[in-house]
Amino acid sequence: KKSEAWSARFSEPVSDLVKRYTASVFFDNRMAEVDIQGSLAHAEMLCAQGIITTQDHADIQRGMAQILDEIRNGQFTWLLDLEDVHLNIEKRLTELVGDAGKRLHTGRSRNDQVATDIRLYLRGAIDNIVGLLKDLRAALINLAEQNTDTILPGFTHMQVAQPITFGHHMLAYVEMFSRDTERLLDCRKRVNRLPLGAAALAGTTFPIDRERVAATLGFDAVCYNSLDAVSDRDFAIEFCAAAALIMTHISRMSEELIIWMSPRVGFIDMADRFCTGSSIMPQKKNPDVPELARGKTGRVNGHLIALLTLMKGQPLAYNKDNQEDKEPLFDTVDTLVDTLRIFADLATGIRVKPDAMRAAAFQGYATATDLADYLVKKGLPFRDAHEAVAHAVRTCVEKNCDLSELPLAELQAYSPLIADDVFEVLTLEGSVAARNHVGGTAPEQVRLAIARARAALN
Ligand code: ARG
Repeated sequence: KKSEAWSARFSEPVSDLVKRYTASVFFDNRMAEVDIQGSLAHAEMLCAQGIITTQDHADIQRGMAQILDEIRNGQFTWLLDLEDVHLNIEKRLTELVGDAGKRLHTGRSRNDQVATDIRLYLRGAIDNIVGLLKDLRAALINLAEQNTDTILPGFTHMQVAQPITFGHHMLAYVEMFSRDTERLLDCRKRVNRLPLGAAALAGTTFPIDRERVAATLGFDAVCYNSLDAVSDRDFAIEFCAAAALIMTHISRMSEELIIWMSPRVGFIDMADRFCTGSSIMPQKKNPDVPELARGKTGRVNGHLIALLTLMKGQPLAYNKDNQEDKEPLFDTVDTLVDTLRIFADLATGIRVKPDAMRAAAFQGYATATDLADYLVKKGLPFRDAHEAVAHAVRTCVEKNCDLSELPLAELQAYSPLIADDVFEVLTLEGSVAARNHVGGTAPEQVRLAIARARAALN
């Protein structure tokens, strides 16, 4: 029985093991709908160019409509023997409509067909992910809005640095996810080019109209070199790089959520639906979702490296290596989609504990820089001011008190420039309010930044 599309050339069938080894149908069948979409556009062009008849075209349309139904209803039988999604669908089409089905592949190869499918699939995935990033940004903006004035310690080296507002902190992530969105939209431009027409590698002898197919499928343009069109997967690698950066940002946020939720820190509580308990320790509430997201970042990074390694050193044009592009790509999309969906919801389930944040900011001499800036404004050079305040902090460490708790007379021992207007500068609220310029943490600036971020959503 000759089920393969090329078996006349061979004197023996491939072994079952080789069949299983070379088949991709059980993972590439997720491209079934775009494969049909691409085939219909190709057939329409073949007909318009007089390469197939109107009757053939009508038969192909009818057959494909039924196949689409079968796939959507779960009635389509995928056969390992037919290797991949392309041959499975073509074979079924021929079963349904006869010779017209056999004419569909005129002027086309699976090489340009699969490249087209991946691009159509990825374009849809990008549009979906851009939408999910938008949901996440919107959720974080809302959280920022509820916390424009909530003080928390800002850290460098995980040591208390300066007071900031929680709203400002959330908007830092909004910036990251906005850049991620830009990156995806930029990547989309290079994804959205049509390989079809390149055929196996050199083009085809038929009078095809590639621009017409590109327009039908919503591509911005055709790929202009047939060898390049079938062989490069740089667009998928680029997507995976953008995905790895998104997950990197998610992992940073996850790490902070985990730290903030630790009872030792206690800055936030996370809604129960994102946490799980322990099978042995009855008291436990673990931040499983952010931990898993942190872990899945490694998986997405791995997929990027897998694709780079897959492409490295491949001679032109198509090589079967490229079949290995799909699982990493699909898993990247799946991981990203699930993670972003969960995080948009998770952001709405964060309960902020302002008292704990405030207490932590109060403990770490977070306003020391404000005192130095105060002295500079009174005429002291910054380096001298830094030194004077360092001495004051040292005294506070010994006495276990905050700078604002030292009596004025004692503060004046470190600089005679200090007057009783200093105490306003030493408050946490005074400190954040004073950083009132574009990009600063002052509540007034956070409100402006929220307006900007909201405008950018649309
Ligand atoms: N399943 C193949 C892939 O994913 C389709 C192209 C196969 N072409 C070929 N000449 N073997 O790349």
